[in-house]
Amino acid sequence: MTETQKSATLSLKGETYELPIFSPTAGPDVLDIRKLYAQAGVFTYDPGFTSTASCDSTITYIDGGKGELLHRGYPIDQLASKSHFLEVCYLLLYGELPTATQLEDFETRVTRHTMVHEQMHNFFRGFRRDAHPMATLVGVVGAMSAFYHDSLDVTDPWQREVAAIRLIAKLPTIAAMAYKYSIGQPFVYPRNDLDYGANFLHMCFSVPAEEYHVNPILSRAMDRILILHADHEQNASTSTVRLASSSGANPFACIAAGIACLWGPAHGGANQACLEMLKEIGSVDRIPEFIARAKDKNDPFRLMGFGHRVYKNTDPRAKVLKQSADEVLELLGVEDNPLLQVAKELEQTALNDPYFIEKKLFPNVDFYSGIILEAMGFPTSMFTPIFAVSRTVGWISQWKEMIADPQNKIGRPRQLYLGETLRDYVDIEKR
Ligand code: ACO
Repeated sequence: MTETQKSATLSLKGETYELPIFSPTAGPDVLDIRKLYAQAGVFTYDPGFTSTASCDSTITYIDGGKGELLHRGYPIDQLASKSHFLEVCYLLLYGELPTATQLEDFETRVTRHTMVHEQMHNFFRGFRRDAHPMATLVGVVGAMSAFYHDSLDVTDPWQREVAAIRLIAKLPTIAAMAYKYSIGQPFVYPRNDLDYGANFLHMCFSVPAEEYHVNPILSRAMDRILILHADHEQNASTSTVRLASSSGANPFACIAAGIACLWGPAHGGANQACLEMLKEIGSVDRIPEFIARAKDKNDPFRLMGFGHRVYKNTDPRAKVLKQSADEVLELLGVEDNPLLQVAKELEQTALNDPYFIEKKLFPNVDFYSGIILEAMGFPTSMFTPIFAVSRTVGWISQWKEMIADPQNKIGRPRQLYLGETLRDYVDIEKR
């Protein structure tokens, strides 16, 4: 971040105030309003943070107009086609692509932490057997702080590193256990000879009664879904992790907070909501009815998997996933899957509709991920947990960056108060 000679002048009640302007390495300039309240006695008002940069960061850059997503400068389509998930994790965490030795060391460290403490199995058994895997995930990840006492001190860089590796390594195990528990099957232990995505498929789909071989095309598709969801700068769940961590809360509590936020249908829960919507539409001839509902101001219905706060042209992740969906469905021999037909037709209808064009609403990453995951055999309830498995590295990278920042202070927004002013208490018999 460089402070330029530029500044903005604010005129207020006859006084003028100079607001410094910072120029980023990419993206729009940023007005520095940190001293505004102290100098001018006013707050800024920005619900939803549509114009507010809450931090500086060097991890991920998005140009919503161009439909560009860069991790540490590398475009997401190159990472999706040339890299693999653990290499992307290294890049997000440490800032550079690893050498062969660094990658091997990192993979070994992650792989050595894939098992969870055996006693943690008891936590799962406390949940109702039909609990949503996201509910279980929030609870068990938060409960990790009850087990891993040697990685709770956020002021110690070594403990932060151990917590980061533990979370990246154990999230797939915990998500798979949440799934197995919800369907009444025994937990499957991780296999460290498999890569990250393949091991996750093994833990979800293997049963003790028979051999399970991970299909390499499916494990590649899984790996690609993980890469595409790994980080997305200051989205709702990442900002939640940062805010929770600003109080000094332990890493497991902060990631549990991120998972809870991700669950909402406007965020990570959209992939489940999108597939359920496609099922509800059911056939191509019902699409006009749902498009009309999405456009009706009096109907709360929205086209799930459409629209994005930042992307106003195209979501580059959706482009990659659309291709992946075609490959996976062809491999599984389900190219004529009616859901895919509804999805493709819905996409075309919406893209040519003036409402969606004018509001710049395009398919987002969740539009195609659900179709791939369903074809792989995952129930809709596992879509958001898989997103959480992937996004953990983004949350952790942003968390580490924030804690190492000397400017780090507790997050504490202000408000525009519109409530009652001072009044006297009224005794109950007089109300
Ligand atoms: N269907 C129909 N209309 C929509 C949709 C949609 N999916 N998305 C936005 N709009 C309309 C809104 O009604 C609004 O119209 P108005 O200006 O007439 O009031 C306008 O477009 C702008 O919408 P906002 O909600 O103000 O945009 P915002 O940036 O706050 O929301 C969001 C972005 C939450 C993603 C929204 O587009 C949405 O709800 N999409 C559906 C859920 C979804 O797919 N979420 C996944 C996001 S990607 C991710 O988290 C990985």
